[in-house]
Amino acid sequence: MPILELGFLLQGFVFPTPYSWSSCGSALSRSGYESACKDFVPHDLEVQVPGRVFLVTGGNSGIGKATALEIAKRGGTVHLVCRDQARAEDARDEIIRESSNQNIFLHIVDLSDPKQIWKFVENFKQEHKLHVLINNAGCMVNKRELTEDGLEKNFAANTLGVYILMTGLIPVLEKEHDPRVITVSSGGMLAQKLNTNDLQSERTPFDGTMVYAQNKRQQVVLTERWAQGHLAIHFSSMHPGWADTPGVRQAMPGFHARFRDRLRSEAQGADTVLWLALSSAAAAQPSGRFFQDRKPVSTHLPLARTSSSPAEEEKLIEILEQLAQTFK
Ligand SMILES: NC(=O)c1ccc[n+]([C@@H]2O[C@H](COP(=O)([O-])OP(=O)(O)OC[C@H]3O[C@@H](n4cnc5c(N)ncnc54)[C@H](OP(=O)(O)O)[C@@H]3O)[C@@H](O)[C@H]2O)c1
Repeated sequence: MPILELGFLLQGFVFPTPYSWSSCGSALSRSGYESACKDFVPHDLEVQVPGRVFLVTGGNSGIGKATALEIAKRGGTVHLVCRDQARAEDARDEIIRESSNQNIFLHIVDLSDPKQIWKFVENFKQEHKLHVLINNAGCMVNKRELTEDGLEKNFAANTLGVYILMTGLIPVLEKEHDPRVITVSSGGMLAQKLNTNDLQSERTPFDGTMVYAQNKRQQVVLTERWAQGHLAIHFSSMHPGWADTPGVRQAMPGFHARFRDRLRSEAQGADTVLWLALSSAAAAQPSGRFFQDRKPVSTHLPLARTSSSPAEEEKLIEILEQLAQTFK
């Protein structure tokens, strides 16, 4: 059995909750979404947002593209931040065609390359305003691979990249009315307690699933800390449920083959991202929380002992800040 699948099944075994795949038939699958939908307030997403500016990372694919398209249909200006020019252009053209919204802009940035992110932020600040940042891009690289800067690839894109983008764009967001930051995390993070001892897997055996889950835990912790430190901005993190996307097909082929009939569509995976980005109901929720199907949910499983101390959380931020500055 591939290690990825094993990791998810073990997670389900250790934590027999809605987050395990064995019970995914309910909460996190397509049928779970359909059932959760019954409680949704339909007019929450019946909004038009001309004049509001959104930045969606990884907006060329999967949940990110579905999110960008729905924002475009509602008249928002969308900046897509993607790493591959051709894939990004195809996505932009499709979004423009399907939404008839011309205000879709492309920025080619590899989010695992800190120098590129800093440069992008500096240029973006000069030329654009921003109301909503959607940290959607994410990866699960299954072998320990390094970027040209010597950074472990999952950590570079999922944690350090998100940290630098967020840090750089705070001043831009703070200038606007109702600024928001949404980070697409994963329920997989419930299997992990924040661990700052080996952020780049230099000293521990490498398990891509668990490294990804640790990165997603780090995103949730960062979201909570940012919410405490930047009161003018509304922060949230979320789990999209298990959705059938190119990312899942590529990183978890066994898992996908086995469960594809029960996975959510990309649009269903994007629903809570959109709700957090667009609705006034989301802005009325306290900042810093973790959402699933438009509801705040716990970031810890019962008895899992995954809570981190303030000192550990500060250590994460110190390490990221120090590392981020070396690439400025
Ligand atoms: N689908 C699920 O069931 C599920 C469940 C929980 C959480 N999530 C999270 O949802 C988010 C979206 O994933 P998805 O499922 O929609 O997969 P996806 O279709 O593969 O989308 C991921 C996006 O991130 C981009 N990306 C990855 N690394 C990047 C980098 N270094 N620089 C710039 N862009 C980068 C990808 O670009 P390329 O197209 O160039 O590769 C792609 O656009 C991720 O954060 C993922 O962890 C998904």
